[in-house]
Amino acid sequence: MSVILGIETSCDECSASVLHHEGERLNPLSVVTFSQIELHQPFGGVVPEVASRNHLEQIEPVIFEALDRAKVEIADLDAIAVTNRPGLIGALLVGVTAAKAMAYARHKPLVPVHHLEGHLMSAFLQSEKHDPKRIQFPAVFLMVSGGHTHLHHIESAPEGWSPTLLRDSLIGRSIDDAAGEAFDKTAKILGYPYPGGRWIDEASKGGDPKAFELPRGLKQKDSFDFSFSGLKTAVLLLAKRLEQEKTLDAAIPDLCASIQEAILDPLIQKTLLLARQKKAKSIVVVGGVAANSRLRARLAAESPVPVIVPDLRYCTDNAAMIAAAGAIRFSQGQGLAPSGFLKLNAFAIAEH
Ligand code: KG4
Ligand code: ZN
Repeated sequence: MSVILGIETSCDECSASVLHHEGERLNPLSVVTFSQIELHQPFGGVVPEVASRNHLEQIEPVIFEALDRAKVEIADLDAIAVTNRPGLIGALLVGVTAAKAMAYARHKPLVPVHHLEGHLMSAFLQSEKHDPKRIQFPAVFLMVSGGHTHLHHIESAPEGWSPTLLRDSLIGRSIDDAAGEAFDKTAKILGYPYPGGRWIDEASKGGDPKAFELPRGLKQKDSFDFSFSGLKTAVLLLAKRLEQEKTLDAAIPDLCASIQEAILDPLIQKTLLLARQKKAKSIVVVGGVAANSRLRARLAAESPVPVIVPDLRYCTDNAAMIAAAGAIRFSQGQGLAPSGFLKLNAFAIAEH
């Protein structure tokens, strides 16, 4: 049994969570997240310096609120877990420095966590709506967030994961924009506020997904990689043409439905193909784009095996998934003592 504090500041969410880990159960006792979306909205995307400065203001109240809500004292914590890669470097440094200071002052082990391991781990968080036991192995994990689009082949529950699981299980990824980024950039072209994914989802309802022909990147059957960068250029040119013809407003539902389909087709085709190849017993979708209503409806209809989406509050960036990844690593003896963690660094890129 252990009680872990998780801290997440890799992008525009400042989040802390207290999690109870016992046996196979990863049970969040509290999750407190300060979302910076409104701060970045006027700029149409995340401004790294604005993000870092706001994390600096929010980190302490967010951590103490998470402890309060869980009714847990710092003394009760067994370890502190913090995202140290990948992400915006200034933002990451705020979380890492806060975690180090707290762990050092209160003699707690520190567990550095890879943000994407956290996203995979979000599927194993217990909640009223989601029982992780539904996940049968081998499983295919589609990780679709604002920053990453990954396909993973996962063969066991987290207790059996090796320290290199994230790398070893990776089958395909986007070679340019992430799926969420494709939603956000095309939504921006159409004038929607950041982040635009949910607006495209909304506006697509009632639209014809075949109305406009838009490119699908990396269509070849033997590749599990994705490419979404061609889509935004195509949408830009199409939107300009429709505007000149004064038909853009009327075309919005059809256009949004067509954009959405151009993003979802490769995600769904490759996920189902991998699931068939690996004889997967379940498909799990994690990351913010898992909120997309058509992605979930299509996968559920087209997949021969159960499709599982964790509680949506754990799909977008949050510290419960970081605490969970930290709890597993801590249970495997990977907590760092001050002699190891004072030199701990943060890294912007995923390969670290
Ligand atoms: O996982 P997340 O919170 O951020 C990263 O870790 O990057 O995901 C945010 C992404 C954004 O790109 C947002 O537009 C997208 O998830 N998103 C959606 C929907 N809701 C959020 N995309 C499509 N349809 C939605 N309903
Ligand atoms: Zn994320």
